[in-house]
Amino acid sequence: MRVLSGIQPSGSLHIGNFFGMMNSMIKWQNKSDLFCFIVNLHALTTVTDGAVLARNTLEAATDFLALGLDPSRSYFWVQGDVPEHTELTWILHNHTSMGLLERSHSYKDKISHNLTPNHGLFAYPVLMAADILLYQANLVPVGKDQKQHLEIARDIAGAFNYIYGPTFVLPEASIDEDLATIPGLDGQKMSKSYGNAIDIFLSKDELKRRVMSIVTDARGVNEIKDPDNCNLFGIYRLFIDQEAQDKLRDRYLTPGLKYSDVKKELVEIIWEYFAPYREKRERLVNRPDDVKDILKAGALKARAVAGQTMELVRDTVGLNY
Ligand code: ADP
Ligand code: TRP
Repeated sequence: MRVLSGIQPSGSLHIGNFFGMMNSMIKWQNKSDLFCFIVNLHALTTVTDGAVLARNTLEAATDFLALGLDPSRSYFWVQGDVPEHTELTWILHNHTSMGLLERSHSYKDKISHNLTPNHGLFAYPVLMAADILLYQANLVPVGKDQKQHLEIARDIAGAFNYIYGPTFVLPEASIDEDLATIPGLDGQKMSKSYGNAIDIFLSKDELKRRVMSIVTDARGVNEIKDPDNCNLFGIYRLFIDQEAQDKLRDRYLTPGLKYSDVKKELVEIIWEYFAPYREKRERLVNRPDDVKDILKAGALKARAVAGQTMELVRDTVGLNY
């Protein structure tokens, strides 16, 4: 089975990315053919500073490797290093209805957050469909926000297969409902672009600053609190097992709990949780050429698979003459 997913290098990776996508991807490397890539072409829809994009791309790859992604057990590359992604995108554009893209929640959402829409942003789901179909992926682990993009990819594959006969595997999203939407500091979905994220690798001072700024309700110390509608609880639970979650829940339901105490504990817990990865990341940060070599080798490996699909597609649509 082929499992595939990508992540945008549009900013530092955060714990929503980690629990929503990266952690499950890394687990898949032991039980499937794993395709994992950094989608720098997608990031072009919002990032307009070349130096920033280049730096974030290398950082995202470094983070993934530090967190345990093993390039010898997976395909790990940067999207822009494999030109077949854009070639297939153009072909798929011709099988994508305008209405399908006009209904995209993510496009509408980005506009509502004051991003000026460009055609790349509008066409974003088509590039994503190409990413998936190029590798004939079966399963795509993502957070809930990507569900509609997966449906669009299936629709495009279906439209193509309907015209030309079976060509593409229809991919399925794999969404862990429990981790589907991790809240940010302000209770909205944690996102690189909303300024509400706790990054995976922060200095301790910055981690403290962010955790202490998690928005909580105005209930006083002696009031009972509501764990199910509390961002602090929603973030804390990710780092502890069920038994510890039950204990924390009891503390919420007993008068006397101070949010600031819980926040101080959480700082320590997050710091410890990522400690082993932090050390590995330090080593990789000091050897950027090694990371680049891994990515270049990964792109070659990915191109071998992508090239097979493109041969089939070129034959099918008549580009081979
Ligand atoms: P961002 O919204 O921060 O830009 P991306 O869109 O690059 O993040 O998302 C990368 C992956 O991480 C996707 O699979 C996405 O669904 C997942 N993800 C991002 N934010 C969250 C979140 N708050 N909760 C759960 N999963 C998330
Ligand atoms: N759109 C995804 C996101 O923002 C990133 C992405 C691009 C992706 N191509 C993909 C995810 C292919 C899964 C499969 O999170």
